[in-house]
Amino acid sequence: DEGLHPTKYPWEHRSPFSTFDHASIRRGFQVYKEVCSACHSLERIAWRHLVGVSHTVDEAKAMAEEIEYDDGPDEEGNFFKRPGKLSDYLPKPYPNDEAARASNAGALPPDLSLITKARHGGADYIFSLLTGYYDPPPGVEVREGLYYNPYFPGGAISMARALFDDLIEYEDGTPATTSQMAKDVTTFLSWAAEPEFDHRKKMGLKAVVSPEVQKDCIRTTI
Ligand code: HEM
Repeated sequence: DEGLHPTKYPWEHRSPFSTFDHASIRRGFQVYKEVCSACHSLERIAWRHLVGVSHTVDEAKAMAEEIEYDDGPDEEGNFFKRPGKLSDYLPKPYPNDEAARASNAGALPPDLSLITKARHGGADYIFSLLTGYYDPPPGVEVREGLYYNPYFPGGAISMARALFDDLIEYEDGTPATTSQMAKDVTTFLSWAAEPEFDHRKKMGLKAVVSPEVQKDCIRTTI
């Protein structure tokens, strides 16, 4: 069973002449951080990757420093904690797959780094999945611990609906409707799956981002 075919949406990053919508990437990062990162890792993304794309160097540094990373051993063989740096990768929600499954009724929340490429339908599928939680139609039984979602192959997924209107408060004041958050986090994940691709386009074409973020981009890429 393939799952319902997702609608094709006019993603800005699909157009050959436009780069990613950077304000949307920034909001999408906020959605990832405040909602999805409770269960999903994003192993390929380091704090420094956000610089010049969605955040200034100071913002990225400040976010990294809020996280404690394991470090060591030092010369005396001691292990210790230290605040994060730009070169650190985003923290993972669980130490290993076993712990991840134990917290999710046996299901494994996949790493989201390449998810927009790994799944048939790409960004359209992710958006549809996140906004596709409905009551099961009459006659359809969903097993305990699963949720009806016609976009998921098989129609029943072990991830509960994660997005609800006004779940978060966007720092740029955009109303946080379910579909806005789904769009933004999908844009963020599409960028995450190919950050170097956007960089190429951005240098050749226009950059749609605040002057401070652009300045940091130029500083970190030249
Ligand atoms: C699966 C995205 C939040 C737990 C997935 C999948 C995606 C996804 C794309 C893969 C579906 C597939 O295999 O085709 C997201 C996004 C989130 C989010 C973007 C935030 C907006 C969460 C949260 C939890 C969670 C908060 C835990 C409370 C899971 C689990 C699966 C899953 C357990 C595996 C489902 C299965 O294989 O049946 N998620 N997720 N997710 N997610 Fe999430």
